Amino acid sequence: MKKIKIRKTGQEVPALVVGCMRQAGFTDQPFDAQKMNHFIHTAVENGANYFDHADIYGMGRSESVFGEALALSGASLKREDLIIQSKCGIRRGFFDSSRDHILEAVDGILQRLQTEYLDVLLLHRPDALIEPEEVAEAFDKLYHDGKVRHFGVSNYTPGQIALLQKYVEQELVINQMECSIVHAGMITFGIEANMKTPGSVDHDGGILDYCRLHDITLQAWSPFQISLHDGSFIDSPEYPELNAKLAELAEKYDTDKAGISLAWLLRHPAGMQVLAGTSKEERLVRMIKASEIVLSREEWYAIYLAAGNILP
Ligand SMILES: NC(=O)c1ccc[n+]([C@@H]2O[C@H](COP(=O)([O-])OP(=O)(O)OC[C@H]3O[C@@H](n4cnc5c(N)ncnc54)[C@H](OP(=O)(O)O)[C@@H]3O)[C@@H](O)[C@H]2O)c1
Repeated sequence: MKKIKIRKTGQEVPALVVGCMRQAGFTDQPFDAQKMNHFIHTAVENGANYFDHADIYGMGRSESVFGEALALSGASLKREDLIIQSKCGIRRGFFDSSRDHILEAVDGILQRLQTEYLDVLLLHRPDALIEPEEVAEAFDKLYHDGKVRHFGVSNYTPGQIALLQKYVEQELVINQMECSIVHAGMITFGIEANMKTPGSVDHDGGILDYCRLHDITLQAWSPFQISLHDGSFIDSPEYPELNAKLAELAEKYDTDKAGISLAWLLRHPAGMQVLAGTSKEERLVRMIKASEIVLSREEWYAIYLAAGNILP
């Protein structure tokens, strides 16, 4: 497994994060704790010990099934061997980054995950009504109570991060953003700077350069999706050229199309972490192996162009 550094803490972590949104969140199917326990062990044994949650996934169900599955391990899997991250701030029909909600949400998260602390807590989405002083109070309390070790945000612009960081004492170490070969706005915007092309539109305030400049680690969510609910671009008839290029390189590097798509994100010098949402052990293990692939500059750009992006 490739490792990256969380830039602000220097902590070495796996480049691939196990995303737990789909583990139980989008389904009412009966939950098999043994099967999920096996999945967690397989991930950890192969070096993927960083897990991403959110209280909104399955309205808490993703966290509670993970907590139940983990509890089956007993002493064979120690809490300190895992890095557990969760998010709060999305409620039914509104966003809420108020002090009281953050504190209440974290207590619920810890209870469902059956753990005493989170390694990382992220605010899930920018809240228009955020009062940064309140967030600062909440983060302070969570940190001093030993409930959260590190803090960050998700889907935040540079201005929103700077505003929050002005008040919050703890460093904001992570920003989680949607990013894939076919959802690469934060990359195309820089490449097509000053053009009149669609890719030149700045959708995020230049978050990629801002995070690199301020040593904030980017985490890429939905790395294999066209967009969150549109299915994967892998094997999609909408992306024939991209799939042909991925297949060609998959053969060269002895991996599959997902492996090359992952390697494409990891080749970016921002040193992103990538969140994989697969529920299949064999897919996860193939991705872990593929995290070691280093694409050439020419290959990186060839994939970029095959996805329909342009060079000015
Ligand atoms: N911060 C945010 O706002 C936000 C939003 C969304 C997600 N997230 C986080 O990001 C994580 C990943 O998101 P995601 O689940 O959308 O990511 P993803 O890894 O791009 O998508 C995973 C889904 O794609 C399917 N898939 C189909 N073909 C695949 C292939 N060839 N290779 C791999 N997967 C394939 C998987 O099915 P199988 O299970 O059958 O493999 C699974 O349903 C989530 O778990 C969550 O932790 C964060």
